[in-house]
Amino acid sequence: MNSDINQNNKLEFVERELQEREKNNYLRQLNPIYPKDAITIVKNGKTLINFSSNDYLGLSKHPKIIAASQDYLNQYGTGATASRLVTGTYDIHEKLEEKIAKLCNKEAALLFNTGFQANTTIIPSLVNKKSLVLCDRLVHNSILQGILLSKAQWKRYQHNDLGHLETLLKKAVSQDYNRILIVTETVFSMEGDQSDVDTLIQLSQQYNTLLYLDDAHALGIMGEKGMGLIANKSGIDISLGTFGKALGSFGAFITTSKLMRDYLINCCPGFIYTTALPPAVIGSIDAAFDTIPSLDKERKYLLQQVDYVQNKLINLGYKVASSKSPIIPVIIGNDKKTLELSQYLEKNGIIATAIRPPTVPRNTARIRFVLSSQHQPEHINYLIHLLKQYHES
Ligand SMILES: Cc1ncc(COP(=O)(O)O)c(C=O)c1O
Repeated sequence: MNSDINQNNKLEFVERELQEREKNNYLRQLNPIYPKDAITIVKNGKTLINFSSNDYLGLSKHPKIIAASQDYLNQYGTGATASRLVTGTYDIHEKLEEKIAKLCNKEAALLFNTGFQANTTIIPSLVNKKSLVLCDRLVHNSILQGILLSKAQWKRYQHNDLGHLETLLKKAVSQDYNRILIVTETVFSMEGDQSDVDTLIQLSQQYNTLLYLDDAHALGIMGEKGMGLIANKSGIDISLGTFGKALGSFGAFITTSKLMRDYLINCCPGFIYTTALPPAVIGSIDAAFDTIPSLDKERKYLLQQVDYVQNKLINLGYKVASSKSPIIPVIIGNDKKTLELSQYLEKNGIIATAIRPPTVPRNTARIRFVLSSQHQPEHINYLIHLLKQYHES
């Protein structure tokens, strides 16, 4: 037997890993909370203002959206009871896909059960060990997992450095790959900054590559009527949006061509071998898509608050990553100090989770503050007040 396996304790590797993580301040633990409203939670009996949720527009608690979810639940039952290709495609699944395609001005849309599931299984359906994937250095773990599963060769370009991407493309086209795929996020989940989508499209066309963009954090907040940074743009083979962020629900979708939709229905395991999204979830998403286009005022307010908070924190001396999205990362660097700041905020009524490696690169531990259009000026000023006090202490 492999000498790595301790004969007396086959779970020794588990204990060792957890101890190692604890020693290095990387141990992750679950912290149950009760969501009181879109921006307030209760944790261990204490009410806290939430600056860590991705519910950018507070839609998880929107009365009309909750009512639509209840309506679909009553009409269709609790579950879809089968995968999409068996008997799990209800009229509401297809109608939602048609609605999304129309709102994003794309040929077709296809639902997935989560963004993680989509990224990890669509990428291996597009490329194989004869292919090359070029991705941004900071892409989400679900994209990395998809690339690794595909067994394709892969290279990362420096974060948002499309000059570097082009250098890699120039080299790659003279080599014998069957396909080249460019994959990145439009708004980076841990940085809050944006990709240059138009240049990505231009490079993809110039070098004849596939282009896959993850628009999870732009949907609801950016683009015309909040439909994200990919809506109304041609030249993107697949764009991913998720329902668990600004839509306040659960699940994901892609927009694509009819041809690619047919291909994935036939060839993507993460679409084929899983139970379809449940009716209550479809109801909430459907109503969220009815609501989002009318929220221009909320989007404007939200992005104004982002500017305000960033400027204040920079003036206080914090290192704030330059973001034009509700994600405002304050880089502390040291893991322990990041945890201490998070604990200080929590003691004073604010929940803002510390994000540490391996989620972000080493020495870039941070508090990822996330604003919602539901945060009122007094919530935001209280956050700034606490951060000022902390900085001065
Ligand atoms: C950029 C990005 N893509 C994909 C995902 C995964 O989406 P989901 O939460 O639907 O699995 C996330 C969320 O964690 C994300 O931030």
